[in-house]
Amino acid sequence: MLLRDFFIQLSENQLLNSAAKKYGLKLGAQSVVAGTNIEETIASIKELNAHNISCTVDNLGEFVSSKEEATAAKEKILTVIEAIHENGVAAHISLKPSQLGLDIDVDFCYDNLYEIVEKAASYDIFVNFDMEDYGRLQTSFDMVEELSKTFNNVGTVIQSYFYRAKDDIEKFKDYRLRIVKGAYKEPVEVAYQDKLDIDLNFIELIEYHLLHGKFTSIATHDHNIIAHVKRFVADHNIPLDKFEFQMLYGFRTDMQKELAKEGYNFCVYVPFGEDWYGYFMRRLAERPQNLNLVTKQVFTK
Ligand code: FDA
Repeated sequence: MLLRDFFIQLSENQLLNSAAKKYGLKLGAQSVVAGTNIEETIASIKELNAHNISCTVDNLGEFVSSKEEATAAKEKILTVIEAIHENGVAAHISLKPSQLGLDIDVDFCYDNLYEIVEKAASYDIFVNFDMEDYGRLQTSFDMVEELSKTFNNVGTVIQSYFYRAKDDIEKFKDYRLRIVKGAYKEPVEVAYQDKLDIDLNFIELIEYHLLHGKFTSIATHDHNIIAHVKRFVADHNIPLDKFEFQMLYGFRTDMQKELAKEGYNFCVYVPFGEDWYGYFMRRLAERPQNLNLVTKQVFTK
């Protein structure tokens, strides 16, 4: 737990974040980040598509504090949407509201999101709102709801560690939802701390949305949860087009291909860009074994 807290604190360090941006993909981050630019990313998507794996593309970056940065992020995402359309690849968009101005001005953020969702809708491309920490949760949900009054290509994420997740999943039943365990450090007042509690809630939420929801993205690298879901969908005759498995780029790649080969819809979360630092530190926090990636890089140089 101490190591997890350490990496989560590192992920929030602005100074290290800027330094990382300046010096490019380092510390083994290249094995879990698809590239620093759109061309490299489209090439990675094509490779995954060749294995029958679709992608959700994330322009790395979060907790942006200036309008200039937020506008630049929006422009980048609009370019990605254009590139997805032009290249005809099987991919959609994942985004973080805090990258598009959530912490600066909610109306400004909403306008940026509106522009992105509108452009994506014109090409029939889905946009998923990643969920960040608890402090940003309600405003993000509100924006998803507001946008879905006009567009039907919007979905979001339910984080199983939150006590409120059950209420949220009922409310968002008619949405395409990604269900995850939850990646941020949250206090006991709002979130389960124990792995077993989180896993049990995760399973309950997945089962609920598979039975009652629109479309479920089960986002996990946990083979036990995946095995449970496979049994559950078979026992309940849930059609394959009602759900997909998702994993992060570069994680358990053999299992990714295997599940796709077995006929399950599979989608890989493809992060790209220069702002890899916070994302990479959160991955180390979740699984300190990923430190192997770092040590390998340091010692093989
Ligand atoms: P967890 O880390 O609990 O691992 C369970 C077990 O699985 C491990 O004990 C190990 O046995 C096995 N395992 C896990 N990783 C392995 C590996 N690399 N190799 C071998 N075995 C492994 N979070 C959030 O708060 N907001 C969000 O929007 C998102 N979005 C998102 C999208 C996608 C596609 C994914 C996969 C995840 C997210 N997350 C997220 C992150 C999520 O909340 C969670 O922190 C991580 O997925 C880690 O939890 P897991 O369910 O993967 O298993």
